[in-house]
Amino acid sequence: MPHPHPDTSTDHPVLLVLHGARGDLSRRLVLPAIADLASAGLLPERWLVLGTGRRSITDDEFAELARDALDEFGNGDSTRLDGHLRYATTFTEDEPGELVQAIAATAEELGADTTVVHYLAVPPSAFAPTTRGLRAHGLTEGIRVVYEKPYGTSAESFEELDTLVHEVLDEQQVFRIDHFLGKEATQNLHVLRFGNQLFGGVWNREHVAQVHIDLPETLDVADRAEFYDATGAALDMLVTHLFQVAAEVAMEPPSRFDAEHLAAARERVIGCFRPLDPQQDVVLGQFRGYRELDGVADDSRTDTFVAARLWVDNDRWRGVPFLLRTGKRMARSAQQVTLVLRTPHELFGEPAGPGRIALSLAGDGAIDITTTVKQPGPDLRLATGTASLALQQVDGGEPLSAYGSLLHDVLVGDRSLFTTPEGLRAAWRTFAPLQGPTRPEPVEYEPDGWGPGQADRLAGPDGWVLGPES
Ligand code: BG6
Repeated sequence: MPHPHPDTSTDHPVLLVLHGARGDLSRRLVLPAIADLASAGLLPERWLVLGTGRRSITDDEFAELARDALDEFGNGDSTRLDGHLRYATTFTEDEPGELVQAIAATAEELGADTTVVHYLAVPPSAFAPTTRGLRAHGLTEGIRVVYEKPYGTSAESFEELDTLVHEVLDEQQVFRIDHFLGKEATQNLHVLRFGNQLFGGVWNREHVAQVHIDLPETLDVADRAEFYDATGAALDMLVTHLFQVAAEVAMEPPSRFDAEHLAAARERVIGCFRPLDPQQDVVLGQFRGYRELDGVADDSRTDTFVAARLWVDNDRWRGVPFLLRTGKRMARSAQQVTLVLRTPHELFGEPAGPGRIALSLAGDGAIDITTTVKQPGPDLRLATGTASLALQQVDGGEPLSAYGSLLHDVLVGDRSLFTTPEGLRAAWRTFAPLQGPTRPEPVEYEPDGWGPGQADRLAGPDGWVLGPES
């Protein structure tokens, strides 16, 4: 969606230096996103992707890898990137590899006004060495650098990375991705609310009883068990995607509707998140059979499920639980944000409700509004009805993938959907108790179900909106 931003021009040629170019993230998400942008006409006339990594491969081999990636994960023409790909081995802090020379050569090929973007599709442990490499080889001037999540793995490692990055780059050059912020429906959280008094007027504790942010996944972790076992659900999803979406829901209206103020408002409210109480407000789970996976320790205590009750300590939300949940090997995949509305206990002698505003963040996104209505017929009986709007049906809509949308924002310099140091510092502070001695032990749960029964307690008497019945 168009946010007003400082530099809306993609006319400059673009050189995208893709670190970790042969890795899973590049193949699954970044290369397909670049192809989507190319197909949608959202790239400038001249652009190149310079893949880089430790292994030495030729330009042709990289092009073949990209075609295979688009075949498997893309949305159309698998040759879309042909002619735009180069490859060079990466640098270290001490050695330039082939990369430093290749950047100079490709930038020259594209022209003097080329925008150079470094995309770090690498594990978090490589963020600092890559950042130092950029400095060591004098590559930092005018570049934009995209960091994947998680940005840090604890409050301390966040601070170290933040200090280093600010020694090397200006904040304006830094784009920290949380791809859930790029989803069409996530962006609709602020449009629906601020663009419609009907919704904006009820966005507070007077009218909202609970907020559910629920991301169950049927997915296994077998193909990335080693990474996963060192990470777990809470680090992978809670301190990142779930907190950021919670901030999208909870933010105060920005003082101006532009990129900078929107990002600041979203990230600032994370400062009102109460540090988690691991014993009262968090349930961790591990699906039965997880420890048998190759790459997982036999006595692993890694969580594959997390449910948390988050409190936002400000006037708007005091007392309203934000119920956050995600897990692997669950009964269903969904990505749903639901505001459960307060309703009168009864109307005409019958129980009323539930009233709900729900947004599905999955795919192209959807909005569902559930209200109490009169059941058609001769008697005054109550029923509930849901009005649904699939976002791809919106007139003139051409949805972009979350990665496509965010990458486009990087190219045009729109920073509204990226995280800020202020927000991340607060996120790590909220999360820190879960990394301490009171972290609960993960409870075993049956695969293909809804996680440990203990998590139901967090949601209160009405339970989770998503579940076996929904
Ligand atoms: C990633 C997590 O960031 O998000 C994965 O590492 C998760 O574990 C994924 O499955 C979900 O995102 P989506 O929207 O691409 O399904």
